[in-house]
Amino acid sequence: MHDPIQDQFDVSSLDLGEIIDTIHGEVQARLGEGKAAGYIDSLAAVPLDRFGMAVVTTGGEVFEVGHSRQRFSIQSISKVHTLTLALDAVGDDLWRRVDREPSGDPFNSLIQLEYEKGIPRNPFMNAGALVVADVVLSSYDDAGQALLDFVRRRSGNPEVGSDAVVERSERESGYRNIAMANFIKSYGNLENDVDAVLDFYWLQCSLGMDCVDLARSVQYLAKRGHCGVSGEQVVSYEMSTRINALMMTAGTYDAAGDFAYYVGLPAKSGVGGGIVAVVPHMMSLCTWYPGLDDKGNSLLGRYALHRFAQLTGLSVF
Ligand code: DON
Repeated sequence: MHDPIQDQFDVSSLDLGEIIDTIHGEVQARLGEGKAAGYIDSLAAVPLDRFGMAVVTTGGEVFEVGHSRQRFSIQSISKVHTLTLALDAVGDDLWRRVDREPSGDPFNSLIQLEYEKGIPRNPFMNAGALVVADVVLSSYDDAGQALLDFVRRRSGNPEVGSDAVVERSERESGYRNIAMANFIKSYGNLENDVDAVLDFYWLQCSLGMDCVDLARSVQYLAKRGHCGVSGEQVVSYEMSTRINALMMTAGTYDAAGDFAYYVGLPAKSGVGGGIVAVVPHMMSLCTWYPGLDDKGNSLLGRYALHRFAQLTGLSVF
Protein backbone atom coordinates (compact mmCIF):
# COMPACT_ATOMS: atom_id res chain seq x y z
CA MET A 1 0.00 0.00 0.00
CA HIS A 2 1.38 3.38 -0.95
CA ASP A 3 2.19 5.49 2.07
CA PRO A 4 2.30 9.16 1.17
CA ILE A 5 3.16 10.17 4.70
CA GLN A 6 6.61 10.31 6.21
CA ASP A 7 7.35 8.17 9.24
CA GLN A 8 7.97 10.94 11.68
CA PHE A 9 5.85 14.05 11.90
CA ASP A 10 7.19 17.12 13.54
CA VAL A 11 5.04 17.17 16.64
CA SER A 12 7.34 19.66 18.33
CA SER A 13 5.09 22.54 17.30
CA LEU A 14 2.50 21.21 19.73
CA ASP A 15 3.12 21.67 23.44
CA LEU A 16 1.58 18.34 24.38
CA GLY A 17 2.59 18.65 28.04
CA GLU A 18 0.81 21.99 28.35
CA ILE A 19 -2.25 20.77 26.45
CA ILE A 20 -2.83 17.79 28.72
CA ASP A 21 -2.13 19.96 31.79
CA THR A 22 -4.89 22.29 30.61
CA ILE A 23 -7.27 19.37 30.18
CA HIS A 24 -6.34 18.01 33.60
CA GLY A 25 -7.16 21.40 35.10
CA GLU A 26 -10.49 21.54 33.29
CA VAL A 27 -11.71 18.15 34.47
CA GLN A 28 -11.09 18.88 38.16
CA ALA A 29 -14.39 20.70 38.61
CA ARG A 30 -16.25 17.75 37.03
CA LEU A 31 -14.74 14.87 39.02
CA GLY A 32 -17.61 12.84 40.46
CA GLU A 33 -19.76 13.02 37.33
CA GLY A 34 -20.97 9.80 35.72
CA LYS A 35 -21.26 6.42 37.36
CA ALA A 36 -18.64 3.69 37.79
CA ALA A 37 -19.62 0.35 36.23
CA GLY A 38 -21.88 -1.33 38.77
CA TYR A 39 -22.05 -4.95 37.63
CA ILE A 40 -19.06 -6.03 39.72
CA ASP A 41 -17.91 -4.69 43.10
CA SER A 42 -14.29 -4.13 42.13
CA LEU A 43 -15.29 -1.68 39.39
CA ALA A 44 -18.10 -0.06 41.40
CA ALA A 45 -15.67 0.67 44.24
CA VAL A 46 -13.22 2.77 42.19
CA PRO A 47 -13.52 6.36 43.46
CA LEU A 48 -14.50 9.07 40.98
CA ASP A 49 -11.66 11.37 42.03
CA ARG A 50 -9.20 9.74 39.64
CA PHE A 51 -8.29 11.05 36.23
CA GLY A 52 -5.24 10.16 34.20
CA MET A 53 -4.05 10.77 30.67
CA ALA A 54 -0.97 9.74 28.70
CA VAL A 55 0.24 10.53 25.20
CA VAL A 56 2.99 8.50 23.52
CA THR A 57 4.38 9.91 20.29
CA THR A 58 5.53 7.67 17.45
CA GLY A 59 9.02 8.80 18.39
CA GLY A 60 8.53 7.35 21.89
CA GLU A 61 8.16 10.56 23.90
CA VAL A 62 5.70 10.24 26.79
CA PHE A 63 3.52 13.03 28.19
CA GLU A 64 1.34 12.21 31.17
CA VAL A 65 -0.82 13.82 33.78
CA GLY A 66 -2.85 12.89 36.87
CA HIS A 67 -3.32 9.22 37.72
CA SER A 68 -1.53 8.08 34.57
CA ARG A 69 0.38 5.34 36.44
CA GLN A 70 -2.52 3.86 38.33
CA ARG A 71 -3.58 0.46 37.09
CA PHE A 72 -7.19 -0.07 36.19
CA SER A 73 -9.27 -2.76 34.57
CA ILE A 74 -8.82 -2.42 30.81
CA GLN A 75 -12.00 -4.40 30.01
CA SER A 76 -13.02 -3.98 26.37
CA ILE A 77 -9.88 -2.11 25.36
CA SER A 78 -8.39 -5.61 25.22
CA LYS A 79 -10.60 -6.21 22.17
CA VAL A 80 -8.08 -4.24 20.12
CA HIS A 81 -5.28 -6.54 21.25
CA THR A 82 -7.21 -9.76 20.64
CA LEU A 83 -8.43 -8.54 17.25
CA THR A 84 -4.81 -7.92 16.29
CA LEU A 85 -3.83 -11.43 17.40
CA ALA A 86 -6.73 -12.94 15.43
CA LEU A 87 -5.99 -10.95 12.27
CA ASP A 88 -2.33 -11.87 12.54
CA ALA A 89 -3.31 -15.55 12.72
CA VAL A 90 -6.07 -15.84 10.11
CA GLY A 91 -6.05 -12.54 8.22
CA ASP A 92 -9.16 -11.61 6.27
CA ASP A 93 -10.68 -15.07 6.86
CA LEU A 94 -11.83 -13.59 10.16
CA TRP A 95 -14.47 -11.63 8.25
CA ARG A 96 -16.30 -14.79 7.27
CA ARG A 97 -17.29 -15.07 10.93
CA VAL A 98 -17.59 -11.46 12.10
CA ASP A 99 -18.92 -8.45 10.22
CA ARG A 100 -17.35 -4.98 10.09
CA GLU A 101 -20.37 -2.73 10.46
CA PRO A 102 -21.27 -0.37 13.30
CA SER A 103 -24.08 -1.77 15.40
CA GLY A 104 -25.87 1.23 16.89
CA ASP A 105 -26.73 -1.08 19.77
CA PRO A 106 -25.21 -1.40 23.26
CA PHE A 107 -22.00 -3.41 23.54
CA ASN A 108 -23.69 -6.39 25.17
CA SER A 109 -26.75 -6.49 22.92
CA LEU A 110 -27.99 -9.83 21.62
CA ILE A 111 -30.67 -8.49 19.31
CA GLN A 112 -28.84 -8.51 15.97
CA LEU A 113 -27.30 -11.91 16.56
CA GLU A 114 -30.48 -13.84 15.88
CA TYR A 115 -31.55 -12.21 12.64
CA GLU A 116 -27.95 -12.12 11.43
CA LYS A 117 -27.62 -15.85 12.14
CA GLY A 118 -24.87 -15.81 14.71
CA ILE A 119 -22.53 -13.46 12.79
CA PRO A 120 -21.72 -10.56 15.14
CA ARG A 121 -21.88 -7.06 13.65
CA ASN A 122 -18.30 -6.16 14.51
CA PRO A 123 -15.34 -7.43 16.55
CA PHE A 124 -15.77 -4.81 19.30
CA MET A 125 -19.22 -5.77 20.52
CA ASN A 126 -19.12 -8.52 23.13
CA ALA A 127 -20.54 -11.01 20.60
CA GLY A 128 -17.80 -10.20 18.09
CA ALA A 129 -15.12 -10.33 20.78
CA LEU A 130 -16.28 -13.84 21.71
CA VAL A 131 -15.79 -15.02 18.12
CA VAL A 132 -12.41 -13.28 18.02
CA ALA A 133 -11.53 -15.05 21.29
CA ASP A 134 -12.47 -18.35 19.66
CA VAL A 135 -10.16 -17.62 16.71
CA VAL A 136 -7.30 -16.76 19.07
CA LEU A 137 -7.92 -19.96 21.05
CA SER A 138 -7.77 -22.04 17.86
CA SER A 139 -4.68 -20.25 16.57
CA TYR A 140 -2.26 -20.22 19.53
CA ASP A 141 -1.08 -23.17 21.64
CA ASP A 142 -1.58 -21.17 24.82
CA ALA A 143 -3.93 -18.33 23.92
CA GLY A 144 -3.88 -16.73 27.38
CA GLN A 145 -0.09 -16.62 27.37
CA ALA A 146 -0.09 -15.27 23.80
CA LEU A 147 -2.33 -12.40 24.91
CA LEU A 148 -0.20 -11.67 27.97
CA ASP A 149 2.99 -11.76 25.88
CA PHE A 150 1.35 -9.44 23.36
CA VAL A 151 0.32 -6.74 25.83
CA ARG A 152 3.61 -7.01 27.73
CA ARG A 153 5.70 -6.62 24.59
CA ARG A 154 3.55 -3.80 23.22
CA SER A 155 3.59 -1.86 26.51
CA GLY A 156 7.14 -2.78 27.53
CA ASN A 157 5.78 -3.72 30.95
CA PRO A 158 6.43 -7.36 31.91
CA GLU A 159 4.25 -6.91 35.00
CA VAL A 160 0.99 -6.60 33.08
CA GLY A 161 -1.36 -9.35 34.20
CA SER A 162 -4.91 -10.16 35.06
CA ASP A 163 -6.59 -9.05 38.27
CA ALA A 164 -7.81 -12.28 39.88
CA VAL A 165 -10.67 -10.58 41.75
CA VAL A 166 -12.02 -8.93 38.60
CA GLU A 167 -11.63 -12.17 36.65
CA ARG A 168 -13.62 -14.13 39.24
CA SER A 169 -16.35 -11.47 39.40
CA GLU A 170 -16.63 -11.38 35.59
CA ARG A 171 -17.20 -15.12 35.65
CA GLU A 172 -19.69 -14.97 38.54
CA SER A 173 -21.75 -12.18 36.96
CA GLY A 174 -21.32 -13.19 33.33
CA TYR A 175 -24.83 -14.49 32.61
CA ARG A 176 -25.29 -12.38 29.52
CA ASN A 177 -21.91 -13.31 28.02
CA ILE A 178 -22.61 -16.97 28.84
CA ALA A 179 -25.96 -16.73 27.03
CA MET A 180 -24.32 -14.98 24.10
CA ALA A 181 -21.52 -17.53 23.72
CA ASN A 182 -24.03 -20.41 23.80
CA PHE A 183 -26.21 -18.61 21.26
CA ILE A 184 -23.26 -18.10 18.89
CA LYS A 185 -22.24 -21.73 19.39
CA SER A 186 -25.77 -22.80 18.38
CA TYR A 187 -25.11 -21.19 14.99
CA GLY A 188 -21.83 -23.09 14.69
CA ASN A 189 -19.74 -19.89 14.92
CA LEU A 190 -17.53 -21.08 17.81
CA GLU A 191 -15.03 -23.89 17.24
CA ASN A 192 -13.97 -24.30 20.85
CA ASP A 193 -15.94 -25.21 23.96
CA VAL A 194 -18.09 -22.35 25.18
CA ASP A 195 -16.35 -22.49 28.59
CA ALA A 196 -12.89 -22.16 27.06
CA VAL A 197 -13.99 -19.16 24.99
CA LEU A 198 -15.53 -17.49 28.04
CA ASP A 199 -12.46 -18.16 30.19
CA PHE A 200 -10.29 -16.42 27.61
CA TYR A 201 -12.77 -13.54 27.31
CA TRP A 202 -12.82 -13.03 31.08
CA LEU A 203 -9.05 -13.10 31.20
CA GLN A 204 -8.84 -10.35 28.60
CA CYS A 205 -11.46 -8.21 30.39
CA SER A 206 -9.60 -8.45 33.69
CA LEU A 207 -6.17 -7.27 32.53
CA GLY A 208 -4.87 -4.40 34.66
CA MET A 209 -2.85 -1.66 32.97
CA ASP A 210 -2.24 2.06 33.39
CA CYS A 211 -2.59 4.93 30.92
CA VAL A 212 1.07 4.84 29.90
CA ASP A 213 0.99 1.04 29.38
CA LEU A 214 -2.16 1.33 27.30
CA ALA A 215 -1.05 4.26 25.16
CA ARG A 216 2.17 2.35 24.42
CA SER A 217 0.26 -0.87 23.77
CA VAL A 218 -1.49 0.67 20.75
CA GLN A 219 1.43 2.73 19.49
CA TYR A 220 1.72 0.33 16.53
CA LEU A 221 -1.62 1.64 15.27
CA ALA A 222 -0.13 5.13 15.05
CA LYS A 223 3.16 3.90 13.60
CA ARG A 224 2.15 1.96 10.48
CA GLY A 225 1.94 -1.34 12.34
CA HIS A 226 5.36 -0.97 13.95
CA CYS A 227 5.77 -1.19 17.73
CA GLY A 228 8.43 1.27 18.81
CA VAL A 229 8.59 -0.33 22.25
CA SER A 230 9.71 -3.82 21.13
CA GLY A 231 10.93 -2.84 17.66
CA GLU A 232 8.62 -5.42 16.05
CA GLN A 233 6.39 -5.05 13.03
CA VAL A 234 3.13 -6.17 14.65
CA VAL A 235 0.85 -5.95 11.63
CA SER A 236 1.24 -4.53 8.12
CA TYR A 237 0.63 -0.83 7.58
CA GLU A 238 -2.52 -1.73 5.67
CA MET A 239 -3.84 -3.85 8.54
CA SER A 240 -3.13 -1.05 11.02
CA THR A 241 -5.27 1.32 8.94
CA ARG A 242 -8.07 -1.23 8.92
CA ILE A 243 -7.99 -1.73 12.69
CA ASN A 244 -8.12 2.05 13.09
CA ALA A 245 -11.14 2.16 10.78
CA LEU A 246 -12.93 -0.40 12.94
CA MET A 247 -12.11 1.58 16.08
CA MET A 248 -13.57 4.68 14.46
CA THR A 249 -16.80 2.99 13.40
CA ALA A 250 -17.35 0.61 16.32
CA GLY A 251 -14.81 1.20 19.10
CA THR A 252 -17.14 3.18 21.32
CA TYR A 253 -20.31 1.19 20.58
CA ASP A 254 -23.49 3.16 20.03
CA ALA A 255 -21.56 6.38 20.68
CA ALA A 256 -19.16 5.80 17.76
CA GLY A 257 -20.95 8.39 15.61
CA ASP A 258 -20.67 10.98 18.34
CA PHE A 259 -17.01 10.15 18.90
CA ALA A 260 -16.29 10.58 15.20
CA TYR A 261 -18.15 13.90 15.30
CA TYR A 262 -16.57 15.36 18.42
CA VAL A 263 -13.18 13.64 18.61
CA GLY A 264 -12.46 12.49 15.07
CA LEU A 265 -9.91 9.87 16.12
CA PRO A 266 -10.10 6.06 16.20
CA ALA A 267 -10.81 5.09 19.80
CA LYS A 268 -11.66 2.06 21.94
CA SER A 269 -13.27 2.24 25.35
CA GLY A 270 -13.71 -0.12 28.27
CA VAL A 271 -16.13 -0.06 31.19
CA GLY A 272 -13.20 0.28 33.60
CA GLY A 273 -13.13 3.91 32.41
CA GLY A 274 -10.20 3.73 30.01
CA ILE A 275 -10.24 4.94 26.41
CA VAL A 276 -7.36 4.54 23.96
CA ALA A 277 -7.18 6.71 20.86
CA VAL A 278 -4.86 6.93 17.89
CA VAL A 279 -3.61 9.89 15.86
CA PRO A 280 -2.27 8.03 12.82
CA HIS A 281 1.43 8.74 12.15
CA MET A 282 1.73 10.90 15.24
CA MET A 283 0.75 9.47 18.60
CA SER A 284 -1.39 7.15 20.67
CA LEU A 285 -3.24 8.22 23.80
CA CYS A 286 -5.04 6.84 26.77
CA THR A 287 -7.42 8.58 29.16
CA TRP A 288 -8.84 7.12 32.35
CA TYR A 289 -11.74 8.26 34.47
CA PRO A 290 -13.97 5.59 36.03
CA GLY A 291 -17.29 7.50 35.85
CA LEU A 292 -19.21 6.32 32.77
CA ASP A 293 -21.91 7.91 30.65
CA ASP A 294 -25.13 6.12 29.68
CA LYS A 295 -23.39 4.36 26.76
CA GLY A 296 -20.69 2.85 28.98
CA ASN A 297 -17.91 5.20 27.85
CA SER A 298 -15.83 7.19 30.33
CA LEU A 299 -17.54 10.54 30.73
CA LEU A 300 -14.47 12.67 31.37
CA GLY A 301 -12.28 10.50 29.15
CA ARG A 302 -14.56 11.40 26.32
CA TYR A 303 -14.49 15.08 27.31
CA ALA A 304 -10.68 14.96 27.52
CA LEU A 305 -10.35 13.47 24.03
CA HIS A 306 -12.77 16.05 22.65
CA ARG A 307 -10.69 18.84 24.19
CA PHE A 308 -7.44 17.22 23.03
CA ALA A 309 -8.73 17.20 19.46
CA GLN A 310 -9.82 20.83 19.79
CA LEU A 311 -6.64 22.12 21.40
CA THR A 312 -4.30 20.28 19.02
CA GLY A 313 -6.43 20.62 15.90
CA LEU A 314 -5.81 16.91 15.29
CA SER A 315 -8.45 14.77 13.61
CA VAL A 316 -8.30 12.15 10.89
CA PHE A 317 -10.78 14.31 9.01
O1 DON B 1 -18.16 -8.35 29.08
C1 DON B 1 -18.66 -7.41 29.65
O2 DON B 1 -19.81 -7.11 29.47
C2 DON B 1 -17.83 -6.57 30.58
N1 DON B 1 -16.63 -7.22 30.97
C3 DON B 1 -17.58 -5.22 29.96
C4 DON B 1 -16.67 -5.16 28.80
C5 DON B 1 -16.54 -3.74 28.30
O3 DON B 1 -15.69 -2.99 28.71
C6 DON B 1 -17.53 -3.28 27.30
N2 DON B 1 -17.44 -1.93 27.10
N3 DON B 1 -17.30 -0.83 27.16
